[in-house]
Amino acid sequence: MSTTVTSPDDELQADFDALIEAEQRIEPRDWMPEAYRKTLIRQISQHAHSEIIGMQPEANWITRAPSLKRKAILMAKVQDEAGHGLYLYSAAQTLGIARDTMTEQLIEGRARYSSIFNYPTPTWADMGAIGWLVDGAAICNQVPLCRASYGPYGRAMVRICKEESFHQRQGFEILLELANGTPEQKQMAQDAVNRWYWPSLQMFGPPDDESPNSAQSMAWKIKRFSNDELRQRFVGMLVPQFEALGLECPDKDLRWNEETEQWDMGEIDWDEFFDVLKGHGHCNAQRLQHRRQAHEDGAWVREAAAEYARKQSAQLKAVA
Ligand SMILES: [Fe+2]
Ligand SMILES: [Fe+2]
Repeated sequence: MSTTVTSPDDELQADFDALIEAEQRIEPRDWMPEAYRKTLIRQISQHAHSEIIGMQPEANWITRAPSLKRKAILMAKVQDEAGHGLYLYSAAQTLGIARDTMTEQLIEGRARYSSIFNYPTPTWADMGAIGWLVDGAAICNQVPLCRASYGPYGRAMVRICKEESFHQRQGFEILLELANGTPEQKQMAQDAVNRWYWPSLQMFGPPDDESPNSAQSMAWKIKRFSNDELRQRFVGMLVPQFEALGLECPDKDLRWNEETEQWDMGEIDWDEFFDVLKGHGHCNAQRLQHRRQAHEDGAWVREAAAEYARKQSAQLKAVA
């Protein structure tokens, strides 16, 4: 007679695997492999940092928006991004990392955020291009994340995606108005689209054969589609929208391939992508400096809140 000896860890791992297999959610109190926890902390905190740093290129235009209506819309959009950052920091906290630690990692330059936010926004049309292309790419990436296996992440994404779809429409509408305006306005819209098109395709990450962590993330059902699949979907969505706008796609090699039933695209400049990732983009230093300054400027608020909390608990103790 033989008996199989299983360690408690093997049993926990088997339970975890069964939950993933059955498309059930992993919740904060459930056991999870350390690598799963670490991957999620990295991904969710990077995502949160991107939302927070991503406020900067657009906030740059709030005071210069061309009308009161545009100003109100842009303010609401930037404020939504702050909210996205907060939901995501909260989701990451459920995995055992402190908010302060994540903030420190960001302002000390040890954490990553999406490279796209290191590009400058020289014209009003950039607000249109960011909304249409950057928020558009974010939607393609994030809709499948609503089904991510980690409960707090998936649930945060549901609300975030609803708001992102408003962001994309407001960007499209800015471009539509410019594209139907004077020849100079139309050119300004085209130039902004030319600046943001390729970086928005890079947002999906490197090609599948150069994306080492993707397979594990897909096995854990955090990620549902590969980088290239999502990029294909995004380009397919843009093609008719370019037509509606009357703007030209900067990728002159873009063609529908009947045989592969895929979009053949021009070469993406991955050297540029990795260069910006390494900190050599136009605005990397400026973005971090600005975030650091905002953190320092907010020190008195944190101190006041801590002092208020201390007095409240002292009062409660006195009553008890
Ligand atoms: Fe967002
Ligand atoms: Fe957004």
